Amino acid sequence: MVYETIIVKIEEGIATLTLNRPEVLNALNDQVFNELAEAASKLAADPSVRVVIITGGEKVFAAGADIAQMANASAVDVTISDNPSHRAFQLIETMPKPVIAAIAGYALGGGCELTLVADIRIAAENALIGLPEIKLGILPGAGGTQRLPRLIGQGRAKELIFSGDFIKADEALRIGLVNKVVPTEQLAEEAQKMAKRFVARGAVALRLAKSAVNEGLRMDLEAGLQYEHQCFNLLFATEDQKEGMRAFLEKRPAKFQGR
Ligand code: CAA
Repeated sequence: MVYETIIVKIEEGIATLTLNRPEVLNALNDQVFNELAEAASKLAADPSVRVVIITGGEKVFAAGADIAQMANASAVDVTISDNPSHRAFQLIETMPKPVIAAIAGYALGGGCELTLVADIRIAAENALIGLPEIKLGILPGAGGTQRLPRLIGQGRAKELIFSGDFIKADEALRIGLVNKVVPTEQLAEEAQKMAKRFVARGAVALRLAKSAVNEGLRMDLEAGLQYEHQCFNLLFATEDQKEGMRAFLEKRPAKFQGR
């Protein structure tokens, strides 16, 4: 598939997926969601890709779902739509490898919600993040009312959802919405730096660690602990576990094979 609204670049195990509709501040229409879904399923299945970075570049992440596309939709249109945003976000969230959102400029509405399906968010100093849907007479409909409270707690999430206000990078860091804030011109470099740290780890351990966190959060603590234990046990069947522990005992860096 030739992508028109995103750019996918793969280098040294790191796939960078860049949103590319600058004329509308990377507003997310069905074509973007479909291309994101297609790219996500390909990257998930490609063993040479170890980490995925999603970004919009240094100016804007994404100013939300495409309002022009939604403005005249009826309740029936919205109901019978095959919900491409949900499909794309699901594929990104369940990607069996780390996903980092590198956020500069606006990450609003569906743009903010896209960052919430990443595992880790890095914000540039110029980032402005918010869920302004309430100002359009709707609510965040791509996971914002569900994933944001799970990430930052319901009180803070409700304040953002009810007000539609944008917050700056330092406030996003303070409330745990992003992991890190970096100078804007260093955003791509910092995302790469973090991605490289993950590339050096064992791919199977990363995959199961992500699954243990994501699946465990859907369970009660006892079930989550059981699931964690199963993931842990399974890793003792991998060559990477043998190599990792042998390397520690031999006082040398481990060379993981991802199996
Ligand atoms: N959808 C469609 N087009 C958009 C857009 C969006 N979400 N955001 C910006 N654009 C377009 C503008 O219409 C404009 O196009 P034209 O040049 O053809 O007029 C272009 O991008 C540049 O935008 P502005 O001129 O508005 O730029 P600005 O710097 O003055 O303002 C902004 C920037 C504050 C982000 C403003 O564009 C804005 O408020 N955008 C909408 C933000 C928003 O409400 N997002 C939520 C969308 S709903 C949603 O996401 C639902 C969901 O949960 C899935």
